[in-house]
Amino acid sequence: MSRASSIQLWRDLVLFDGEQTCPQPMAVWVQDGRIAGFCPEAEFDAAALSDVREVGRGGVMTPGLVDCHTHLVYAGNRAREFEQRLEGVSYADIARAGGGILSTVRATRAASEDELIAASLPRLDALLADGVTTLEIKSGYGLSLDDELKLLRVARRLSQLRPVRVLTTLLGAHALPPDYHERADEYVTLVCESMIPAAAAQGLADAVDVFCEHIGFSPAQCERIFQAAQRHGLPIKAHAEQLSNQGGSALTARYQGLSADHIEYLDEVGVQAMAAAGTVATLLPGAFYTLRETQLPPIALLRQYGVPMALASDANPGTAPICFPTLTLNLACTLFRLTPREALAGMTAHAARALGRPDLGRIAVGVPADLCLWAVQQPAELAYAVQPGRLRQRIVNGVICHPIEVDHHAR
Ligand code: NIG
Ligand code: FE
Repeated sequence: MSRASSIQLWRDLVLFDGEQTCPQPMAVWVQDGRIAGFCPEAEFDAAALSDVREVGRGGVMTPGLVDCHTHLVYAGNRAREFEQRLEGVSYADIARAGGGILSTVRATRAASEDELIAASLPRLDALLADGVTTLEIKSGYGLSLDDELKLLRVARRLSQLRPVRVLTTLLGAHALPPDYHERADEYVTLVCESMIPAAAAQGLADAVDVFCEHIGFSPAQCERIFQAAQRHGLPIKAHAEQLSNQGGSALTARYQGLSADHIEYLDEVGVQAMAAAGTVATLLPGAFYTLRETQLPPIALLRQYGVPMALASDANPGTAPICFPTLTLNLACTLFRLTPREALAGMTAHAARALGRPDLGRIAVGVPADLCLWAVQQPAELAYAVQPGRLRQRIVNGVICHPIEVDHHAR
C-alpha cells in the first residue's frame, strides 16, 4: 500500500467523472486522501506541483464503484430454491411456504459473528476486486432484536477488515419471523420500539429500510417504521414495487426517502412523487434477471421526470446471488436498456446520492479520493464486456489498495 504523503499523479487518462466522460485525455492528482486537482493532459504543468509522484498512466479512470443496495451478510445459500424455481415454483410461493428469506434467517440466526464474517468476506472481496470502494450492507436475516444487531455489527466489522467504506441499513421489516405469525403489527412495534432505538443508540445503522410488498409489509406498517426512523434521526429507504404496485415508492418519497429500490411495478404517480422529493430510483437488474421478471421498471418515465437512477447488485442469497459489479452494469444495459453512461453514473454518482453521500462517487476537487483505474480504452467497455480482471488500481481515500503494475500501454 502506498501512502499519500506527497502528491500522487495519474496521467493520460480517459476520465469518467461520475456523470460523463471528459472529451480529452486528463491528468488527476490526489493529496491527503482527497482529489486535489484534474485538468486536460494538454494543459498539465508538472512544474506547478512540487513533490509529485506519478503512480499511473493511461487507461480509464472512474470514481470507485458504489454498491448502494446489498444484503451481503448472511449464512448458508439457497441453491435448492434455485432448483425449485427452475422446476416452476415461484419466488412468492417459496416465501409463503416458509422458505426464501426465512430459510436464510434460520441459517443466519444459527451463525456466530465470526462465522458470518467468514461467510461474507469472499463476497466482499469479489466486489472489491471489481472496483467497489463504498457499499451498503443491510441486516434483515436476523428478524429479532439481538440477531439484527448482530448483522449490523458484522457489517461494521467488515469495514475494519478491508479498505472499503461500508454504510449499514437496518432492515428489520424484511419478512415476518415465524414467532410473529399473524401478528405483523406487533412485529412492527418491535422494529419501531426496540430495533430502531437500539441500532440508533449504538451507532450501528446509517439508515432504515423496509420490504413494502404483499409478501412483506403493508404501506401502513412501513409508514410506522418510517416515522420511528425519523424520530431517531435515521434516513429511510424502501424495497418497493418489486412484485406489485403497493404505492411504496410514493410513500417513501413522502418521507423524503433516500431511494426506492427495485420499482419494476412503479407507476407515473410514483415517479412524479419521487421526482418532487428527490428520491433516487435504485435499479436492481440482478434480481430482475434471477427471478426472470418480465415487468420492466419505468425507465422512460424516470428519464422524463429527471429522477436519478442508481444501480446496485442487491447481492443476496435469494434473488441476486451476484457479486460482480461490472456484470450488473451489463445487465442494466442489456435488460433495462440503460446506456453505458447511465449505468456507470448509476453505480457512481447516483448510487452515492442514494446513500446520502453526494461527496462520493464522483471526481471533483476536494472530495475523498476513491477511484478506480481500469485496463480498458473506453468507459462503455466496462458495461459491454462481462470480464473479470480489468481493474488495475483501486484507490480508497487516496490509498492504492489494489496495486497491479501500471500498464503504460493500457490505452
Ligand atoms: O432485494 N425483496 C426482498 N429482499 C431481497 C431478497 C432477499 C432474499 O430473497 O433473501 C431483494 O430482492
Ligand atoms: Fe434487496
